[in-house]
This record gives sequence, C-alpha cells and structure tokens, in this order.
Amino acid sequence: MSGLFGYTGAAGAFDHILHGLSKLEYRGYDCAGISLLLNGEITTQKVAGRLSALGEPTALCPELKQSTCGIGSTRWAPGAAAQQSDIPPYGTARLSLVLSGMIENYRELRAQLSGEGYAFDSTSDGEVAAKLLDWLYKGNPVEALAKANSMLQGSYAIAVLFADYPHELYGVARNSTLFVGRGEGESYVTSDLSALVEFTREYDTLGKGEVVCLSPDNIRVMNQQGNLLTRETQTASQDLAQVRKGGYRHFMMKEICEQEQLLAEMLRSRIFKGLPSFDRDGLPEGLFTRYHRVLILGCGTAMHAGALGKEFIEQLAHISAEVHLAAEYRFRDPILSDNTLVIALSQSGETSDTLSAMRLAQSKGAKVLAIVNVPGSTMAREADYVLYAHAGPEISIASTKVFMLQMGVLYLVAIEMGRTHDIIDDSKARDLVKALLEATKSIGQVLEQNEQIQKQAREMARTQSVYYIGRGLDWPMMMEGSLKLKEVTYIHAEAYSAGEFRHGPISLVAPDFPVVALATQQMLIPQMLDNIREIRGQDSNVLVICRNSLSLDESLEQSAVRLPDLDDLFMPIPAAVALQLLAYYTAVAKGRNVDAPRHLTKAVTD
Ligand code: G6P
Repeated sequence: MSGLFGYTGAAGAFDHILHGLSKLEYRGYDCAGISLLLNGEITTQKVAGRLSALGEPTALCPELKQSTCGIGSTRWAPGAAAQQSDIPPYGTARLSLVLSGMIENYRELRAQLSGEGYAFDSTSDGEVAAKLLDWLYKGNPVEALAKANSMLQGSYAIAVLFADYPHELYGVARNSTLFVGRGEGESYVTSDLSALVEFTREYDTLGKGEVVCLSPDNIRVMNQQGNLLTRETQTASQDLAQVRKGGYRHFMMKEICEQEQLLAEMLRSRIFKGLPSFDRDGLPEGLFTRYHRVLILGCGTAMHAGALGKEFIEQLAHISAEVHLAAEYRFRDPILSDNTLVIALSQSGETSDTLSAMRLAQSKGAKVLAIVNVPGSTMAREADYVLYAHAGPEISIASTKVFMLQMGVLYLVAIEMGRTHDIIDDSKARDLVKALLEATKSIGQVLEQNEQIQKQAREMARTQSVYYIGRGLDWPMMMEGSLKLKEVTYIHAEAYSAGEFRHGPISLVAPDFPVVALATQQMLIPQMLDNIREIRGQDSNVLVICRNSLSLDESLEQSAVRLPDLDDLFMPIPAAVALQLLAYYTAVAKGRNVDAPRHLTKAVTD
C-alpha cells in the first residue's frame, strides 16, 4: 500500500510534497521517494525507512529545492528492508511515476515490455506502469496515459511527471480514487483527501478512463479520447484541526476521546422527530422494507462492527442477518436473492477484499449499502447506497472512532428496519433512539476510569498471551477488543465465545495466561460468572470488565473495570471504549509505536 502526492506551482515543490506525504504516512511508512523537475531534468531521491529521512539536509542537493514541480510517495513494504529499486517513484529519463493501489496484470505486461527491450530492476508493479508509459509515450502525455489506462488492470491511482513538460503533472485512476485540488496559482494531486485539505478545500476526483493534466493555473480533465470535460469542483468539509494531533501524545488517544462528540453528532444528524432518518443520505423511501435477509461484509475492525450489527438487526428487526469475512466471501459462489441487502463496511472504502466481495455480490444482482468513512472513496462511489460514518479522518492505524461510528450507523439501520418491518412501533423506536443518544454519554464515563484501566494495562504489558471471552453481544465485542490489543501491543490475544471456551481453549489457561472477561449482558451473567469461577480455579488471573451493578467477589473486584449500566443492547458502546483504552495503555507501557504498529497498514489495497 502506498500514498502519493504531487505539486506544481510557484513555490518550492519539495517542501509541499514532503508536507503532503507526511499526512499520508499512515498509508505506508517503510520507504519514501520524491521526483523533482528542474531545468528540464527529473531528479529522484529515495529513502528506505521513515519519510523524515527525505527531509534531512544531506538527502537532497540544495539546488533541487528551487524546483516547483514534482511528485512523491510513501510505501508500505512489509518484510525485508526495501531495496532502492523497489522504492517509488519509478521511471526513465523521460518520465517519473508514483502509484497508489495495485496493478493486477503487471507480470504479463512486464513480459511484453521485456520483449520490447525494457529491463527491470525491481519486482514492483509501479516500475512496470512507468516503463509501459515510456513505451507508449510519443510526445503526447494524454494519449500515452489514456492508452496505458486501457491496458492496465487492477485498482490504482497514478501521477506522472514528464521531462518534456516542466510545469505539468498528469494522472489517471481505475477503481481507486485520485484527488486533484486547486490553490492560488498552484495545483495538487493525491491519493488521499486528508493530505489535500492541508493546502486547499477545492477538489475533484477522476472518473473511469479519464486523464488529468495539472498546471499551476489550470486543471484539465479529459476523456479517453482526449476531449476536454467540464467539471464542477467539490468543497471538502474536513476540518483541518481534525487531521492534526491536538494536544494528545498519539492519534489513537485523540481518536478515542473524540468518540462521544462524533457519535452524538452523527446520530443527531440522522434523527428526525425522534426517529431514524436517512433522507439526507439519499436513501430511497421504504428501502429497508424490500429486504428480508441481510448479508454483512468487511475486514478486521469493520467486520467486527458488522458482527455486532448482525445482532442489532436480528434483535430489533427479526431479519436474518449474516456476517462474512470479505477476504473469504470474495472467492465464494454466493447464494443471493432479490430480498437480500448486502451491507459493506469499511473505514477507508478502499480495502481490496471488501471491494471485491461487494463487486461479486453486485455482479449477482444484489444491491449494496456501503457504510464507509472516507468521502468519495471507491466503495462509496460503487455502492448502490452509501451511509457515511462521519468520523472525520482517522489517522491511527488501529481503528477506534470509526468502529464506534459504524456501530452507531448500524444501530440506526437496525431500529429503522425493525420499524419498517413492523417489529417495533414508532413509540418503541423513539425510546430506542433516545436510549441510544443517552448511551453516548457513557463514553465519557468510561474515560473517567482512566487510572484503573492504566493500572490493569501495566499488568497486561507483562503477559505474552491472553484470552478475551464474552457471551452474546460481548463475544463480537471481544473479537474487536483482542484485535485492538494484538494490533498495537503485539501481545498474542484470542477471542472466544465464553460458552465455547470450555470446549478446548481453557486447557491453556495458567497463572501466566490471563483472561479478560466481558460481562455486560444481563441474561448471560450467571453463565459468565460460572466461566470466571472455572478459570479462577486454574489459578489464572481474570480481569473482569462488567456493568456497575454486578457484584463480584472481593478478589475480582480489585482489578475490575466498571461500565455504566445501560440497556444490554447499548453496552457495546462503553465496552468498546474500555477495551480500546486497555489496548492503548498496554501499548504505551510496552513502548510500542502506537499509531503506526509494525507490519500494519491503514487499508490493505492490494
Ligand atoms: C487493515 C487495518 C485494520 C482495518 C482493516 C479494514 O487490515 O489494519 O485496522 O480494520 O484493514 O479496513 P477498512 O478500511 O476496510 O475498514
């Protein structure tokens, strides 16, 4: 995965590109590179490691800082340290190219180009795209890019510099989003809106087969035939403050703390006369009455939000709902009918597994409702219906606030489904909406438990393996809690349904193998207490996270983390915060790179 940024204007391109790329580092931070045009020549500089190394005085010849036109990229290169030839940009003397996404048929194209006399220094698909473009380039960049775009397959956004055109940048995209933005006498191109809003709010995105040419004073979008298209620019609503860390040490903590306000705001924007309302989202009237089965797709944290959403929908609307790992579903021969609504969940809206699974469902005739966070993302554009999470940019790799907001959207969808399927009447729906709004306050109440959670996190930091168990809604919640711990601390954490736990996993429990037990579901408390007693019987430590009203033995009470008492249905809201904080403070205690954990990337797009 990688992020790209390009600048052409009157000021120094290097500083602009470096600043733009710093906002994209979460997309990949194993290596970075930049290409600058000066006096008709392209100079490329690459570093293995963090982007900041590019900014060091020794990294760049000072004269190059005068360049006013260039492109750059950060890239995720898991495994061995990146070789210089693998680091973007890629190119020849005539052009330089940066790529975000993945070119699927690069092996075939590479073989074809080898036959044309091209040599390759890397295994990268970006190098193939650059050399393909070089081969097709006969002096007209638009023609060459349009032709390349028709030959490349996959999901990608590309930006290119041509030595023959010293003040211009070019771009194309397929199944992925390329943003172009206009400032005062300067233009920008990037794979990510949060990098663009650092400089300008006016932006446009490229459609299929379109080619863009950016100069300092102009942005021209052309179709495959090179004809100029008339476009209206859009205005980004992202608040700049949201993409900065504020006073927090880490974005993860900032994003955990934002949840109460964001969730309340998102819910209020979708409540009209006390009932859920998706009018402003453009969902057709009566949409939910058409479906009698729901199929939810997602990866990682998004899938966990979906697993909770399945429960909300089944409980409130009595509609059969399933949740599937998109990475598995995409290779299935799915059973779908007209009465099935597919819900695709994603923060980025670019995860390739979820996109492929969603496209497969669409190819079988299903309608897809995407619940995504990034505006204008590929999923948002390709889905039949879209509900944005409205969480603002989420910078920390480990998702927190988007998970919370996805749950919030799913609560509203479930209430609306229950209402439109006559399972709950308007009065009951209003009560649920009111209780949901009230539940947002529990987020702040859990944050007040900071000290107790920090204390438990210090204990957790000493362990190598831990089980997370729960029943009912607490089980999918623990799947998310254990993923959060794994992601940011590198501690081995596994989630089990507490019922299933007795059928094998308990054999590993020992004094140095603790268990975190979540007990919020009132009907299932007796069974959870049985589980806890059984684990204690093996001399293992149990950290209980439970509702305030539950009485515990004194030995358990000392370490317990208490959650406000809410209706069972809404307990995942405070539980999520407690589990996020536990993961966060454990990572801090272990000295981990909280916002950018090893081997992870914000969205897996290839
Ligand atoms: C990556 C991230 C996860 C994330 C998942 C799905 O694996 O590391 O934290 O949950 O992708 O991303 P999405 O953008 O589709 O929600």
